[in-house]
Amino acid sequence: MASLLKITLTITFYFIISSSLLHPATGVFSEEASEAISMRRMEKTTRLHFFFHDIHSGKSPTAIKIAGTPDSSLFGDTFMMDNALTEGQNASSKAVGRAQGMYAFAAKKEPALLMVVNFDFTKGEFNGSSISVLWRNPVMVDVREMPIVGGSGRFRYASGYALAHTVWFDPKTGDAIVEYNAYVKHY
Ligand SMILES: *[C@@H]1O[C@H](CO)[C@@H](O)[C@H](O)[C@H]1NC(C)=O
Ligand SMILES: *[C@@H]1O[C@H](CO)[C@@H](O)[C@H](O)[C@H]1NC(C)=O
Repeated sequence: MASLLKITLTITFYFIISSSLLHPATGVFSEEASEAISMRRMEKTTRLHFFFHDIHSGKSPTAIKIAGTPDSSLFGDTFMMDNALTEGQNASSKAVGRAQGMYAFAAKKEPALLMVVNFDFTKGEFNGSSISVLWRNPVMVDVREMPIVGGSGRFRYASGYALAHTVWFDPKTGDAIVEYNAYVKHY
């Protein structure tokens, strides 16, 4: 009787162990994925250089005001954009993607923006890949740094930073061209 119980317990124990080893995904909330381990070893850094065209004027503006206060203060003014990204400073140079997202004047004492943007690329091996940026942008500062918080496609697991520098600004319309240098760590 005692040995039968022992055998039953052993079999039950073996069954529990083997089923949890063979089917770790069944009903398991989190587990280490081996794919991620091998991908970590192939980490690389890609430098991206492009120009961003923030166009408020003309018949087809790519940045439009969607909210704001009626007073003259900029604080609270919010814009939606689908801005062109090009290889050169000239807007008619080769397109490399779009910057889609929102920005809002988030500081009361200076023109500093909260920006939430996906840079969606269309060129070469990065066609269809994107990087995501969540960022404080004090627009009057010569070189602004922004954190890259994620990405998709070739930029899956992206992290890194980008530097932005305004190369042209028209105070009458608000149109601007901004040069970007991004250093993207990905796999
Ligand atoms: C941009 O390129 C177009 C066509 O190549 C050219 O006509 C135009 O003068 C250029 N604009 C600037 C600002 O360089
Ligand atoms: C990017 O990919 C899309 C969808 O696969 C394709 O239609 C488009 O022609 C590609 N563009 C470039 C510049 O390769």
